[in-house]
This record gives sequence, C-alpha cells and structure tokens, in this order.
Amino acid sequence: MDNPFRYGQVVDGEHFCPRPALQRQLESFIRAGQNAVVTGERRMGKTSLVLAAAGRVRGLRTLYADLLGIRSAADFCRRVAAGAGRLERGDSLLRKTCRLLSRLRPTVTFDRETGVPVLSVDARSSDPEESVEAVFDMIEAHGRSMKLCVVFDEFQDVLRMENHEPLVALMRSRIQFMGDVPFLFTGSVRNDMVQLFRDSRSPFFKSALPFEVGAIPDGEFVPFLAAKFAAGGRKADESFLRLVLDEACRTTGDVQELCEALWQVTDRGRTLDRSDIERAFVLLHSREGTEYERSVSLLTGLQLRVLAAVARIGGASVQSAEFVREAGASSAAAAKKAVLRLVALDLLFHHDGEYKFTNPFFRHWVLKKSL
Ligand SMILES: Nc1ncnc2c1ncn2[C@@H]1O[C@H](COP(=O)(O)OP(=O)(O)OP(=O)(O)O)[C@@H](O)[C@H]1O
Ligand SMILES: [Mg+2]
Repeated sequence: MDNPFRYGQVVDGEHFCPRPALQRQLESFIRAGQNAVVTGERRMGKTSLVLAAAGRVRGLRTLYADLLGIRSAADFCRRVAAGAGRLERGDSLLRKTCRLLSRLRPTVTFDRETGVPVLSVDARSSDPEESVEAVFDMIEAHGRSMKLCVVFDEFQDVLRMENHEPLVALMRSRIQFMGDVPFLFTGSVRNDMVQLFRDSRSPFFKSALPFEVGAIPDGEFVPFLAAKFAAGGRKADESFLRLVLDEACRTTGDVQELCEALWQVTDRGRTLDRSDIERAFVLLHSREGTEYERSVSLLTGLQLRVLAAVARIGGASVQSAEFVREAGASSAAAAKKAVLRLVALDLLFHHDGEYKFTNPFFRHWVLKKSL
C-alpha cells in the first residue's frame, strides 16, 4: 500500500478530512453569492477547503487563480486566464473564453504529459488597467451564462503588483457589481490580507465576510488519521495521535507531513508509540537538515541564542527577565530586536501574543542540537 498521507499540495477526495461545519458555511456563502475572505495560518488547509466547498455546489464552476508571486497586471491576467482555461474540459467554453479575451492575444497549447489544454494570454504590451478590465469583462460574461464562483488564492500578492493602487481599486469596483458571482479571496493571516480587508483606506475594506480556517478539531482529525494508519496495518491509538497533533502544533499540513514520515519509518503490524515519533523526526531532519543549517548559518550569535531560547521556554514573553537570561541577551530591547529579525527571516511568527516557530520540526531540530 502506498503512503496514504499527503502534504505540500492541495488535497481532495480520500485525502481530504471532511470539515462539515466549515464546508457548510462556505457553501452557503457561495450559494448566496456572498464574497468571503478566507484567512488562516499557513498550511491549515485553506485552499483545499475552499475548493472542496465549491466542489459540492451542484452545477457550479470554479474559476481558480493562484496569484502567488504576481508582480504585474500582466501576471494577474495570465493567472486568471489560465484559471478560466481550466473551467471545463470541452472545447466550446475554451473557444468562448479565448474570444472574450481576444484583446489579450490568447493562445492555447497542450500540456505534453496530460494533453490538457492550457490557456495563456500576453498582456505585457497592453495598458495594465485595460488588461485587468478585459479579464473582468470575461469573468462577468461567464458569470451571466453559468453558475460561477471565483477563487483568488494568495490574493494579498495583488499588493505586490507594480503600481498596484489603481489596479486594486479597479478590481474592487468591478467585483462589487458582480453580485451573482461569489468571490472567495484566500491568504494567510500573517500577511497583507489584513491590510487589504481591514484597513479603512483599502478599496477592499469590509468588502467580503471574514472566514477563518483554524485547525481541524481533534475529534475529527484523529479518527481520519487512525483509519489511514489502520488501512496499512498500523495501529495508532487516540492518545498517540493527540501526541502527533501536539508535535505538529495542530497545523494540518504539518500533521500530515509527520504522519507521512511515521508511515515511512514503521512496518505493518506495529502499534505506534513515542519512539516512532523520534524516528520520524530523524527522517524529517535528514530531509530538511540542509535548509535548517543554512537558516542558522545566517544568524548572529545572539539571534541563535534567542531562537534556541524560544525553542526551550517558548516565546510568550521575550522581554521578561527570565527570557533575557535564558537567551544570554544584554537587555530586553536586544532580545526583542533579535526576535523581530527572526520573524523577518520567517523562522518565527507572532500569533496569539506569542512568538512561535514557523516550522515545528525545525524547533525540534534546534532542541536536539542544543544550539
Ligand atoms: N481537510 C484536510 N484533510 C487532511 N489534510 C489536509 C486538509 N486540508 C489540508 N490538509 C493538509 O494540509 C496541506 C496544505 O493544504 P492547503 O494547501 O489546502 O493549505 P493552505 O492553508 O492553503 O496552505 P498555504 O498556506 O501553503 O497556502 C495539505 O497538503 C494536506 O497535507
Ligand atoms: Mg493555499
């Protein structure tokens, strides 16, 4: 049997642990044409959830555009056009999309491996605002002829587009007049989504209902994971799986990554216990160790000691006398400055009043190395 755990990619079907309460709520937004801004910590399962919820609405087509890393209006148009090209397998819709995007010189190629058509546009030489208008004209036209939902994933990156202000304002004004087409904007709470939807100066201020994706409740995730282990002849009882959830800080993708490693280091017939977690960590560290080494090589002595102190005693009060002593810092201010640098390097993040490791397995490695 193949390893049943998946991480680092969108999951669906048997790999998707149902999240009935969240799915129902999102589905009701979609049916009502209600725009929503879906935020949550990284790897919590935002993209998978949004696509699963949209997938359950009968007759709905989802235009999914991943906006990660866009830097220009041309990039935005390319991503949205590619999403529109995936709306349906048949030819006729694709032809219509091409017609609607004719101002952007669309081309269709075929993926070498899958044979699936790939729609591309060239908006580099067009006026940025006109290109964005053309893309929204296309969405609007499709929205009139089919039940459509639009997912803009990693939407915060629109703020990184060159001269983004008028473009973002234009997007907002087009979206607000498409009442029947629900737009779902997803992104991580640790980035510019907050600025886009909660800052009164932003055109998107309060334009979509907030929707938070947290951890899958233990009562739902534990039986899902146990069944996967059981299907491969491994016994993972509830208390063991709660330990796994603790070690992965209940971040959905990290839980799956740890389970994938646990599967890898165990055989059929085994009842999993804490020693397997240790062996799974060894495997994870061997895969990711080079990256960890690189990260710590960039740190000053103080930053490294502060990182190790957060690993040992937590980052709830990094300016306390105890923390400053633990980190060997000269002052509370120095400790805080080092923490902020670790956040800038994306090794730590701030959540619920506490600084935490972005990657729980890196924390474990730091502890083990006694840095
Ligand atoms: N419902 C689910 N059931 C089981 N595993 C899930 C579920 N949702 C997410 N995962 C796990 O989390 C990983 C990340 O999922 P996904 O890409 O949907 O999260 P995300 O929050 O969009 O992540 P990112 O912040 O990287 O965009 C998946 O590869 C999978 O391991
Ligand atoms: Mg995502």
